[in-house]
Amino acid sequence: MAKEGTEMTEETEHMIEKNGAKETEHLVSAGDTKEMRAVILSGFGGLNKLRVTKKAMPEPQEGEVKIRVKACGLNFLDLMVRQGNIDNPPKTPLVPGFECSGIVEAMGGNTKGFEIGDRVMAFVNYNAWAEVVCTPLDYVYNMPDDMTFPEAAAFSMNFVAAYMMLFEVANLREGMSVLVHSAGGGVGQAVAQLCSTIPSVTVFGTASSFKHEAIKDSVTHLFDRNADYVQEVKKISPEGVDIVLDCLSGENTGKGLGLLRPLGTYILYGSSNMVTGETKSFFSLAKSWWQVEKVNPIKLYEENKVIAGFSLLNLLFKQGRCGQVKTVVEKLFSLYNQKKIKPVVDSLWALEEVKEAMQRIHDRGNIGKLILDVEKSPTPLDDFAGHSRDSCLHE
Ligand SMILES: NC(=O)c1ccc[n+]([C@@H]2O[C@H](COP(=O)([O-])OP(=O)(O)OC[C@H]3O[C@@H](n4cnc5c(N)ncnc54)[C@H](OP(=O)(O)O)[C@@H]3O)[C@@H](O)[C@H]2O)c1
Repeated sequence: MAKEGTEMTEETEHMIEKNGAKETEHLVSAGDTKEMRAVILSGFGGLNKLRVTKKAMPEPQEGEVKIRVKACGLNFLDLMVRQGNIDNPPKTPLVPGFECSGIVEAMGGNTKGFEIGDRVMAFVNYNAWAEVVCTPLDYVYNMPDDMTFPEAAAFSMNFVAAYMMLFEVANLREGMSVLVHSAGGGVGQAVAQLCSTIPSVTVFGTASSFKHEAIKDSVTHLFDRNADYVQEVKKISPEGVDIVLDCLSGENTGKGLGLLRPLGTYILYGSSNMVTGETKSFFSLAKSWWQVEKVNPIKLYEENKVIAGFSLLNLLFKQGRCGQVKTVVEKLFSLYNQKKIKPVVDSLWALEEVKEAMQRIHDRGNIGKLILDVEKSPTPLDDFAGHSRDSCLHE
């Protein structure tokens, strides 16, 4: 049953419509037991567009698993969704969130492989930030026994994206070198850990300087995010690097391509530089894509360079590659069970603290992943003033 927190906003949400799919409209009346807490994005914009509200609890359809959510992953992409800074944004209001972990509570028909009570990790095409979610079984994975719910919520997006880029797109092998931006973030730390599973891989990383001490063991050469990293890399490796992972976009595309060794691969997988404040900036959006579109294929041919793009959510939800992703998840779980990788959790936040959690990313404060812990009570405001939230590692 849905828990009723005292901080809960007493509102009723109607319909969420996205990608042409409609949720059945539910009006939640007082005393209705089939309700749950969920984070709602009421419209695109700043942090004030987010709130926690009561919402009708979904029931599993054919092929779907109903999950009692314990923890949800908060990704940089969620900031971009909030701003409407993505291609074909869905209609609002919506429940954000693309990944969660929890316990299977019910199943629709044809859900072989899962049982009520299973501990699972899942991708969801929106709607993850709620007490209960339903998602097709193709996106649900039984968690390793030793993995905690916050770890699982920190795992799927970051490690699957990092693994597929390194091993399936760029073919990382022994002795290669990799440049990764935002090396202290969720994906950045997953990239660094996966590189350490291959002998003699050199990792160059950029990150805000205050993170360097905490992440120095995972990255071979660290540069401040404002440094001229092209010059810094060339000082150490005049030939450049084999793989550039670019989540910043903008002028970094040209710089990244320029840094590639022959047969090297540049992968564009994000556009963090488009986020310049709390709300969307059309100027930075235009600037970012202008730079990317200036890539010349003939130059790539002459210089023996590969340019690639990667979007895990499109692969999963638009291009039907869930089987391939499932195989990757199995490989990653094996690495986790061998204690070769472990998600870095920055901090845990109650659903009601989603604005403060997002602000921490805007402020570049996170090292690793932020988690929304569905069972956590909000930290009293006095404690926020003293910055004593439930931080896992670094405060
Ligand atoms: N394509 C895919 O499938 C895929 C999947 C997952 C993530 N991504 C992308 O990968 C990137 C990292 O994602 P993540 O979820 O792991 O986030 P994250 O790296 O934990 O994001 C937060 C960090 O990004 C850095 N940053 C760069 N530009 C920023 C800006 N404009 N505002 C605030 N922080 C900025 C900051 O670190 P420093 O100050 O230390 O640089 C900040 O601490 C994002 O661009 C995301 O969209 C793509």
